[in-house]
Amino acid sequence: MKIEEIQRIKDEALRELRALRSLSDLENFKVKFLGKKGSITQALREIKGLPLEERKKTGAELNQLRQYLEDELESKKRELLFLEEDKPLDIDITLPGRRPLYGGVHPLAKVIDELCEVFTPLGFEVVTGPEIESEYYNFTALNIPEWHPARDMQATFYLQSGALLRTHTSPIQIRAMLARKPPLRIIAPGKVYRCDADVRHSPMFHQVEGLMVDREVSFSDLKGVLSYFAREVFGEGTRLRFRPSYFPFTEPSLEMDIGCVICGGEGCRVCSNTGWIEILGAGMVHPEVLRAVNYDPEQWQGFAFGLGVERIAMLKYGIDDIRLFFENHLYFLESFK
Ligand code: PHE
Repeated sequence: MKIEEIQRIKDEALRELRALRSLSDLENFKVKFLGKKGSITQALREIKGLPLEERKKTGAELNQLRQYLEDELESKKRELLFLEEDKPLDIDITLPGRRPLYGGVHPLAKVIDELCEVFTPLGFEVVTGPEIESEYYNFTALNIPEWHPARDMQATFYLQSGALLRTHTSPIQIRAMLARKPPLRIIAPGKVYRCDADVRHSPMFHQVEGLMVDREVSFSDLKGVLSYFAREVFGEGTRLRFRPSYFPFTEPSLEMDIGCVICGGEGCRVCSNTGWIEILGAGMVHPEVLRAVNYDPEQWQGFAFGLGVERIAMLKYGIDDIRLFFENHLYFLESFK
């Protein structure tokens, strides 16, 4: 290879370097001059044939050139990358963006919050209790002794230890009365468990328990508080009915029904074609229950109620299957945002 030839490659490389305009130009340049078959690589190989002195000189020059080109390419590349970022984007910026997914409050949590907000202005304090309970708090202290057929009213999940999953929030009444001195007013939301499952029953569901104990509390106070709650939660014109009932821990006892808002009273699968849905049980605290927590029934009276949160949420939002609350399909949950 002649000296003139090498000079020509140099000139060509420097000229083309200045003309690089894109990253693909740059790649082509690399291949043409510096790649395995590139002309500079080729030239470096071919100087072997030159006389020693010339070989040294040309070799040094070519290596210098190679280094120079590599450095230049590196900075050129950075420059081109930078420019490329500034290019108008190859997308339609008028298209709607992808919305981030936001979570929402679960309808049951909403109803529980709302119930607590209805009762706290009346002086009720929000308390909670354990979901794994002893037979004593869940049954015995609530005037349901072991032989009592009422134990069968609630299909209980027992644990191997002999403890159980509470079947209602009423054991919180006992715990609250033991932990406090009368008078007291508490509201206690929580999960409860019964071996039962269909469109209206889930093996785990929620209740909110209310309890008021004072020196002069009457059945009409109870009815007043429950009517107030129903109006607050379901609106002024809500149809209500009180039915006599039985619970071992209250005497007298009642159940409150609300006109079925799913069918407007016509009859549907939610209300078993009766037009009414039971949403709570209530009554005056049984003297035996007061005695179990060392409250003197001659001095203290009270009322208690336990409401079903799912029932209330179903009526409020027009949901006809309790299982929807626990399947957690996004289309269902998102309608409550
Ligand atoms: N604990 C009862 C139940 O789960 C409801 C209830 C609570 C009834 C308080 C009366 C008083 O069925």
